[in-house]
Amino acid sequence: MSTPLLQLDWQRLPNAPQPGTTLCALHEIAAGVAREFAFPLVIAGEPDFRLIVYRKEDSLHGYVNQCPHHWLPLNRPNQPFLRWSEAEIMCVHHSAVFDLARDGKCSMGPCQGSNLVPVPLQVEDGVLKIAG
Ligand code: FES
Repeated sequence: MSTPLLQLDWQRLPNAPQPGTTLCALHEIAAGVAREFAFPLVIAGEPDFRLIVYRKEDSLHGYVNQCPHHWLPLNRPNQPFLRWSEAEIMCVHHSAVFDLARDGKCSMGPCQGSNLVPVPLQVEDGVLKIAG
């Protein structure tokens, strides 16, 4: 039996949004495109909490934007994610590939078999929020 890999609790990370935090209107999330949200936007010097939101048809997926290889963001600041396939993105640092529609599983690269840290999402009256 293998030992479970380290799994971060997203709510304990600096500047993690509170459950119930509004992200945007659901129609602003295009299907098949990974979008990033950062918290907070205004406090200088504080590390951002960076969130990946991915929509595949009617399902929504949220993850902390930290690659489990070295806990770095998967994209460069203010740059789009590198797309590997329809639902997969590639980390810009050492090319790990993550399937955003399948629990953020790393399917290829130096941390193969690990996962992005999930963040629960919910939709309420057409508004996308952090679940809570
Ligand atoms: S930090 Fe992402 S693959 Fe190394």
